[in-house]
Amino acid sequence: MIRMGLIGAGTMGALYARAFSQSSAAELVAVCDLDPGRAEALGRRHGVERLYADCQDMLRAEELDAVAVATPDFHHREPAVACLRAGVDVLCEKPLATTMADCHAIREAVRETGRRLMVNFGNRHKRQVCKLKEQLDAGALGPVENVFIRLREPIGKTATLEWVAKTTPTFFLLSHCTDTVMHLIGGMPRQVYAKASYGVLTSRGIETSDAVVAVLGFDGGATVTMDANWIMPDGFAPEIDFAIEIVGRDGALYSKLRSDDMMAYTQGARSVDYDFASPDPLGHTSGWWFDSVYYFIECLERGVEPQPDAEQATRVTQVLLAIEESARTGRVVEL
Ligand SMILES: NC(=O)c1ccc[n+]([C@@H]2O[C@H](COP(=O)([O-])OP(=O)(O)OC[C@H]3O[C@@H](n4cnc5c(N)ncnc54)[C@H](O)[C@@H]3O)[C@@H](O)[C@H]2O)c1
Repeated sequence: MIRMGLIGAGTMGALYARAFSQSSAAELVAVCDLDPGRAEALGRRHGVERLYADCQDMLRAEELDAVAVATPDFHHREPAVACLRAGVDVLCEKPLATTMADCHAIREAVRETGRRLMVNFGNRHKRQVCKLKEQLDAGALGPVENVFIRLREPIGKTATLEWVAKTTPTFFLLSHCTDTVMHLIGGMPRQVYAKASYGVLTSRGIETSDAVVAVLGFDGGATVTMDANWIMPDGFAPEIDFAIEIVGRDGALYSKLRSDDMMAYTQGARSVDYDFASPDPLGHTSGWWFDSVYYFIECLERGVEPQPDAEQATRVTQVLLAIEESARTGRVVEL
């Protein structure tokens, strides 16, 4: 049994607690959150009594095999490094970090301790992404010439995310797009141009951008356009609109990266994403995000390196920072 700890008992922390509680291979042993009320509420829900406000206290007192880090985007370094240095493997929420200094510190800790760290870019576990990768790796499209990927979310998310003004659609949303594209087509972007737009959120007193569009020139020759925003109206039927189009010299692959072909005709009518979270016959919640967590646990059991690791996730952050820089300066950033 893998003994898991959890740092960050917010939205994603609640999902980790559910995933570990459902798993027959892992158990949630301890929960840590700066806000003791949150750790307590989550602990009560899952029968966990070992609760902490400081991760160093948790790491000193508990014998853990691994910890899930589900703190805000810009606060992964301190808990991740503390866990690695305490001899514990890490499942870190995306993105790995929001500065290169933080990425390097985490990579350094991985190298020095020999522990495992995976960043939970769970979209890699979507069935559509697995199938796209199989097709691309088999050369079904020939050389990829261009890719379009979009991720759009309703504005409601920006009202519930406490630290929304300290992040951007680049780190929060394009991180998913960037990892998905780099995972699928391989290689590294060499030129990055981006534009961010402002107005809707600032008019609500939220000092961050509404949307960002980025054009990336990959070293393999592909041009990738990524488009993300979090200002879609709350009635937006697909709720999360995530889609990809990949065009190669010998063919094209199009996919909605979510299963939303089931409509609920109710007062709050919207399509139903049964990939992300659906009940299974045991009453467990299942879907790609949970599959990604179980993949991490299985890798630990088998002694296999889970992917994406700190090296791959650092390259994603490097691209995200180039997008932010280009949007700020109006210039093409060379990587
Ligand atoms: N995979 C996905 O689809 C997805 C979706 C949403 C968010 N995320 C990512 O998950 C992470 C967490 O996001 P969230 O929406 O759960 O945020 P959240 O604000 O709901 O939860 C974060 C929690 O971390 C706690 N915290 C902050 N600093 C801490 C510290 N030093 N020690 C202990 N606890 C601390 C806060 O008190 C809060 O309870 C982010 O990196 C975010 O980008 C991923």
